[in-house]
Amino acid sequence: MSIYHTPVLLKESIEGLNIKPDGVYVDATFGGGGHSQEILKKLSIKGKILVFDQDPDAKINQLHDNRVIYAQANFRFLKNFLRYHDIEEIDGLLADLGVSSHHFDSEKRGFSYRFDSTLDMRMNPNQRVTAEVLLNTYSEAQLKNLFEKYGEINNAKTIASVIVAERQKTKIDSVVTLKSTLSAYIPKQTENKYLSKLFQALRIEVNAEIDSLKTLLLSASDVLSEEGRIAVITYHSIEDRLVKNFFKNGKFEGEAEKDIYGKTSLLLIPVNRKVIIPTDEEIERNPRARSAKLRIAQKA
Ligand SMILES: C[S@@+](CC[C@H](N)C(=O)[O-])C[C@H]1O[C@@H](n2cnc3c(N)ncnc32)[C@H](O)[C@@H]1O
Repeated sequence: MSIYHTPVLLKESIEGLNIKPDGVYVDATFGGGGHSQEILKKLSIKGKILVFDQDPDAKINQLHDNRVIYAQANFRFLKNFLRYHDIEEIDGLLADLGVSSHHFDSEKRGFSYRFDSTLDMRMNPNQRVTAEVLLNTYSEAQLKNLFEKYGEINNAKTIASVIVAERQKTKIDSVVTLKSTLSAYIPKQTENKYLSKLFQALRIEVNAEIDSLKTLLLSASDVLSEEGRIAVITYHSIEDRLVKNFFKNGKFEGEAEKDIYGKTSLLLIPVNRKVIIPTDEEIERNPRARSAKLRIAQKA
């Protein structure tokens, strides 16, 4: 049996949450449940953990423990779920963003360029928009924009126009069709890196990942108790920049707002001056950890 997901920066993120045994915690990205299990170990019988995963597949990893509340939902609905469960404040939240190994290793879900599957890429299969839908309906400008913004792809304009021209002839409906459509425009020496960025861009757009993350950060900073902690693990620079700026400046871009006396009043303060990355030993054991970055902040 393949492993659903190996947790990344496990020790560092759990230590960073500074868990209070009777506290209420949120694991916004349950996946294989690795982080949740560690949080549970530190909780007393009075502690509680609310876990989210929008992918129904993650439910097979559910922890059968009275202290766990499972939400098969997008973490952007954090506040709704807290209200529903009569929880006013939380003592900590962990978000280990993006997709799991289960997604990358699934031959049918379209997250990986290694398999010839349909271009799906939805974490929540009840959602309407797939990668196929956007590749075949987005305007050239929309495609260029998303390749640039979410994939940081140099020839975004060219590949957007190639896709738009190709889809007049055939529907782009599989990983193989997409790869063959673009093969002349993908640098051969760095093909895998290029495809990773292309697939990342499509996935971020399909799942509206940036919007969900922004909503989560704003909600979490509202509901954290005094000295409550938020720990976020990101896997690409687009998300890391956003989290870093939010922790430092209370907004997603630009400097913190100042009052007329030049003072800032921020809800969060970063706990670590430097970003936390996996050790060489962790990367050797789990190469998928290589791009991970952990940032922790505390309610002011
Ligand atoms: C990197 S994995 C988390 C792995 C987990 N920490 C573990 O140790 O197994 C991310 C998980 O979060 C879920 N996810 C990503 N974005 C989400 C969102 N906006 N709302 C709910 N779940 C989300 C994915 O379906 C995936 O299972």
